[in-house]
Amino acid sequence: MPSRVKPPTDPVPIEHDGERLTAQRGESLASALLAHDRVLLARSPKLHRPRGPYCLRGACDGCLARVDGVPNVMTCLRPVSGGERVETQNVVGVRELDLMGATDFLFPRGLDHHKLFAGVRGVSALVQRFARRVAGLGVLPSRAGEVREARHEEADVLIVGSGRAACRVAREHETERVVHVDDATVAGGRAALIEPSWRSDPALARVRTLTTVLSVSREPEPGLWALLLGPEGLTLLRVREVVLATGRHDPVLPFENNDLPGTFSARAALALVRAGLVLGRRVAVVGSGPLGDALCLTPGSEWLRVAPETLRGAAGRRRVSAIFTERGGKTERRSVDALVIDGPGAPAFELAVQAGGSVVHAPHGFVPQADSSGRVAPSVRCVGSVVGSD
Ligand code: FES
Repeated sequence: MPSRVKPPTDPVPIEHDGERLTAQRGESLASALLAHDRVLLARSPKLHRPRGPYCLRGACDGCLARVDGVPNVMTCLRPVSGGERVETQNVVGVRELDLMGATDFLFPRGLDHHKLFAGVRGVSALVQRFARRVAGLGVLPSRAGEVREARHEEADVLIVGSGRAACRVAREHETERVVHVDDATVAGGRAALIEPSWRSDPALARVRTLTTVLSVSREPEPGLWALLLGPEGLTLLRVREVVLATGRHDPVLPFENNDLPGTFSARAALALVRAGLVLGRRVAVVGSGPLGDALCLTPGSEWLRVAPETLRGAAGRRRVSAIFTERGGKTERRSVDALVIDGPGAPAFELAVQAGGSVVHAPHGFVPQADSSGRVAPSVRCVGSVVGSD
């Protein structure tokens, strides 16, 4: 069960489903809730299966909640400032016991809402009304959000990502106008998680965190444009060169109940441990890689390393409580408090393709096709693990 090793040094109150909790100012809301062993944070929109944070980087839907009246907030990307009101959305009943969870039981082979009573007079409209009530992702915000004008900015180089490769590029362009962004709450990528002392690299001080590049485009011509979304709102950036150090997505392994709360990517698990949490007494780490290796060196948990090909599934009603592995033709049940998935993951190629690049399929996903200098399209380069180098 996740818990905090030491009490917060800068404690502030937050509220979760009406209960008052203490959080560390600046940590993400998701981390704060996990520190109180709140692993189940959401429900899937259709079958209402329990959901929990998996990635802690805005790439899954496991941490969505209503925050201060705004639905679908990724709580892993919202730093705590104190006083936030977090509410579970899309449940009938309570978070831990959502009555709509029966849907998962009643439709074990999935639910095709396009066909369910479609066209049956009288019943069709009734079913649709019911479906609208139980599906979706919460209700509209309590009040309209503030409308802000997009900012306009110009730069020589836009660097996306803040791992080692990105910082090398930032140093090469020190004398130019550089906009350096990362969508994470903290700069440094996985390198800084593996080696925390690297966080003192001066290049990281200039990174705009929590800033996502929504698009890279060549229109209006002539020019190269990037649309950034950050804490200050939207920025339309005109830029001469784009360097993509977007790294890799967290891996997802296909096994039964791979979506149970308490399942974390190795990167997310290591981020939690570095932030002062323990994940549980006994934690299974499936797969291998530098993140998992670093994680298994940390104190506080018994780490159980599992080869992916032996994993048959996970068990638990509202959170993972055991895994099934196969050895010598026999299936073994092993109790765990959390499950960590490690491995190479697929390259985050999306912006490279938007910018005009092409991809080739490799064993772990699609890789941008780059020339010897990393160029994937005119004025666009890829560096680091997104193109298979570090
Ligand atoms: S999106 Fe927040 S944990 Fe994945």
